[in-house]
Amino acid sequence: MYDMKALTDLFQNNRAWAQSVVDRDPGFFTRLLHQQAPEYLWIGCSDSRVPANEIVGLLPGELFVHRNVANMVVHTDLNCLSVLQYAIDALGVRHVIVCGHYGCGGVHAVLNGDKFGTIDNWLRHVHDVADKHQTMLETIGDRRERVNRLCELNVIEQVRNVCMTTAVQDAWSRGRALSVHGWIYDLKDGLLRDLGISIGGTNEITSSYKSALARLGGPIIAAQPGQS
Ligand code: CO
Repeated sequence: MYDMKALTDLFQNNRAWAQSVVDRDPGFFTRLLHQQAPEYLWIGCSDSRVPANEIVGLLPGELFVHRNVANMVVHTDLNCLSVLQYAIDALGVRHVIVCGHYGCGGVHAVLNGDKFGTIDNWLRHVHDVADKHQTMLETIGDRRERVNRLCELNVIEQVRNVCMTTAVQDAWSRGRALSVHGWIYDLKDGLLRDLGISIGGTNEITSSYKSALARLGGPIIAAQPGQS
């Protein structure tokens, strides 16, 4: 059957990959066996076109990852909250990155009023973001641009949600150096954009949140050197 063949291909790919890693660095897997000490936690969308490690060029062991549809940080999502707390307290990550992407299917479904089933309940949280920023969104005539703006707004809101969690609040109150960042990935060119929200303490939340919102629609802060 074709499907069986496809899965066999994956095992072949896996063997080839493992071999290529060992060829490059014979001690690679042995070193990672006993510990992981990633510096970053990535909270991103499940979208298959946004593979976390690959787009930031990080190897196994270097990036702790949580992905769900539309890169949400929901206040009562035990899954995400557990990842966050473990990453901060047990692994000692220093940066939490919320990374959205333009053209996100979950965000598009919200603005389009699409119905898919169970996922609609999850996407209610994106609806809440759209409702909160309805005035800004209504000023954008072009449909695709409106989706992309909501993708940006959603990242900014999720960064704020990360900052409000007990895991992050407790870390900051203990004096831990921990920053929360908001980025967005462009499927068109494979590049990341910094949304200009980087928060390193409770006293920075409101000002950074407000200035990131105010910057939307203005020139994009390019993560690329040489661009303004
Ligand atoms: Co998406």
